[in-house]
Parts: sequence; structure tokens; C-alpha cells
Amino acid sequence: MLKMTAKALVCAVSLGLAGLAHAADPIVIKFSHVVAEHTPKGQGALLFKKLAEERLPGKVEVEVYPNSSLFGDGKEMEALLLGDVQLIAPSLAKFEHYSKPIQIFDLPFLFDDIEAVDRFQKGPVGQELLASMEDKGITGLGYWHNGLKQLSANKPLRTPRDARGLKFRVQASAVLDEQFKALRANPRKMSFGEVYQGLQTGVVNGAENPYSNIYSQKMHEVQKYITESNHGLLDYMVITNTKFWNGLPEDVRTELRNIMDEVTVEVNLHAEAINQRDKQAIIDSGRSEIITLTKEQRDQWRDQVKPVWKKFEQEIGAERIKAAEAANQQ
Ligand code: LMR
Repeated sequence: MLKMTAKALVCAVSLGLAGLAHAADPIVIKFSHVVAEHTPKGQGALLFKKLAEERLPGKVEVEVYPNSSLFGDGKEMEALLLGDVQLIAPSLAKFEHYSKPIQIFDLPFLFDDIEAVDRFQKGPVGQELLASMEDKGITGLGYWHNGLKQLSANKPLRTPRDARGLKFRVQASAVLDEQFKALRANPRKMSFGEVYQGLQTGVVNGAENPYSNIYSQKMHEVQKYITESNHGLLDYMVITNTKFWNGLPEDVRTELRNIMDEVTVEVNLHAEAINQRDKQAIIDSGRSEIITLTKEQRDQWRDQVKPVWKKFEQEIGAERIKAAEAANQQ
């Protein structure tokens, strides 16, 4: 009897220790994304890992999975909601099933430059949109810039007529779909990880991307021309699973929030320089010619696609569109 009790005691002690060891296990945060590491988002994810592990040693571990190595962009949102990944930063084009007003960021020629985007995102409407998916279990933690998009193809695109009949890869976005239809081109929805091959094999003839995505995916090697159109935005919302986030110990959540704010400032400070660096690298490669538009040519593109705004005005909200336009004037 006594022997049994001692054995039980040993068992209980070791179970208790195991329990303690378990309680001290670091919280693992998987951060999955679809781009290369030397892009604005790739750098942001790595900086978040560095700061989180430095400031919360033993409490938090961050695993970063770049280049669609864990989930491609068709699956990452679902994985976040299922708790298979804790942080993702999809482009703002990929939220239409969760929040229609976020479609605003895809409207062509809405923002004059990235400074206007920044003002809008920091303003009341931008902040409202960041919080607009809480009821779906998605918490927005911040906006990260990539930059403005450029058109690319194997023929020079100078006026909207040049795009007619071409097949363009689009992200899963109804607005972007309509944008290319307005050009009388054929949009094809395709995951980011498939774009290079799609362009190489001719499944699509053209695409729209910021320079950092063109260069890091080597798209300039399979696209002879890039038109510097700056016609639309490719930015991100860093999001987490609301239940996961709210379930974190308060001190950890507060520190992670501070780190995210710090990383957001850093990413947004350097995104434009990364795009300019990659533009120069494309020029230096000699593989693709960059076409600069005259003001008249750019106006033609704008006039051709602007009717798309009306189609989405109701879903997005006219007041929100006005607020975005106002951000250009400040
Ligand atoms: C795309 O699909 O083109 C982008 O959303 C990829 C990215 O995350 O920059």
C-alpha cells in the first residue's frame, strides 16, 4: 500500500513537472506569406520575428513561411480561420468575401501616390476598415505598403487600345476583373505562386504588379515590356485570428501589438525604396523595357477604367470613396 502510494506520488510529481514544462512552452506564431523575403512584406515578417523573439524570449517563437511554402494565397485565409496559421498579410485585393468596403483599395487610379494611401489608411475610414472583420473572426493589426502597380506584357502597352484582347492575370478580386474588362482585355484569376509560369507558358499574356513583385518573381524575364502606369495599389493588411489574439496572455498581446506597430512603421518607410531598387535592377538586367507614359496617355488609361468605380460604389460606400479622394488633396 505504502509502495503504491510512493509510486503514485512519483507519478503525480512527474506529471506535475510535465505540466509545468508545458505551461512554459513558447507560444508558436506561424506567419505565412506568398512573396519572396527581400520584398516589403518578406522583410516585415522577418523583422516581426526578430523583435518578438528578442523581446519575448522563451515566451514567443515566430516561424516565417515565405513564397507560399506553407499556404498559397487561395488557402491562407481559410488556414488562419482554422488556426493552422496565426499571422498572414494578404493583399487588400483578397478580402472581398469578408468585407466589401475593403474593395476600395482596388479601385483603379484612386490614389495619386503612396503618401495619399498612407493618409487614408491612418484616417478614420482606413481604421474602420481595419476593424471591419472582427465579426468574421479576423482582427486587422495594420496596413503594410508594397506599392503602386505597373502593367506588363510582351508587347508595349502605351494606350488602353494596346491591352485589348490580351489575357491578364488578376488576383481574386471582382474589381480587378472589371478593370481589365473595361480595357476589353481578358482577366484570368490565378494564384500568385503560379504567375511566373502562367506568363512563361502564355496561359496569360500580361500582369499588374509592383516592381518588387515583378523582380523577385523574375517576371521581367518573361515580360518584354513594363509600363510604369502606377494605376492601382498593392498593399497588405496584416491579420490574425481574433480568438487566438484575444486568448493571448495580456502582457504578450500588448508587447506583440507594440512590435507590430513598430514593424508597420519600418515596412512603410522602406517599401518605396525597395520598389525603386528593384526597378533599377530590372533596368540593369536589360531583360525588360520600362515604358514611361505621357500625361495624355495616362489620362486615357484612367478614363477607360474609371467607370469601374460606379459599379462598386454601392458595395464600397460613396462616402468612403470621397474620403479616399480627399486624401489626395491633403
Ligand atoms: C498578388 O497575388 O499579386 C499579390 O497579392 C502577392 C503579394 O502578396 O504581394
